Amino acid sequence: MASGKIIIAIDGYSSTGKSSFAKIVAKGLGYIYADSGALYRAVTYFAYTNGFIDEKGEIDKENLAKVLPKVEITFRTNKKGDSVTCLNGSNIEKYIRTSTVSSRVSQIAEIPFVRDFVNVMLRRMGQDKGLVMDGRDIGTAVFPNAELKIFMTASDQVRAMRRFKELQEKGEKDTFESVLENLKQRDYIDSHREKDPLTRAKDAIELDNSSMSFADEVEWLNNILLPNFNLKVEYPVE
Ligand code: DC
Repeated sequence: MASGKIIIAIDGYSSTGKSSFAKIVAKGLGYIYADSGALYRAVTYFAYTNGFIDEKGEIDKENLAKVLPKVEITFRTNKKGDSVTCLNGSNIEKYIRTSTVSSRVSQIAEIPFVRDFVNVMLRRMGQDKGLVMDGRDIGTAVFPNAELKIFMTASDQVRAMRRFKELQEKGEKDTFESVLENLKQRDYIDSHREKDPLTRAKDAIELDNSSMSFADEVEWLNNILLPNFNLKVEYPVE
């Protein structure tokens, strides 16, 4: 049986509940949580607000490549204990989950130099292990040697409904149909891009959470963690 800290890679399609699950797992193990999608969203927000994406959605890759190395994206913990994304020191968390960013992020994330830029930051976070990271290529490209890889799935309808409710709570006006359409588009681009497309790692364990509660998911995970790594996710944690 392995012992000590491990890296848990959680990949899957959009809105499969990866982030919520990854946060619970990290908290219950006392590990660091990292949302790799937030970095792609931050780059998209940067590109959008600095004129590197025009009204038609065309990306000025040449100039973006020149300035990106100087851009600083970091995670900070706020007073509530939540991780927030910062761009050059400013909290941009509330801007990166909007439908404007969601509708462009997959095109930004398919650019190879953007992926290289993000991957350097992601790998740095894994240096001391004790990390739960969610994304699309964590188990295949970022940490191919992660001790545990999970590939999450859920039906299209369930995923779109989760995302739709999230947006409604934030006061966004998107219709269910447009949310579903955006999900499908992102899934397509994410799984068909040339560099590190979304695909299940051969050694990843699949978790279909269409009709599972968080408690069910934790129980499912503990059945793997305890015998193999002598680890147990405490849930709920105060
Ligand atoms: O997890 P998310 O929906 O916040 O991710 C936003 C986008 O970022 C997603 O459409 C694809 C991209 N992404 C990626 O290409 N690779 C990752 N490891 C994480 C996200």
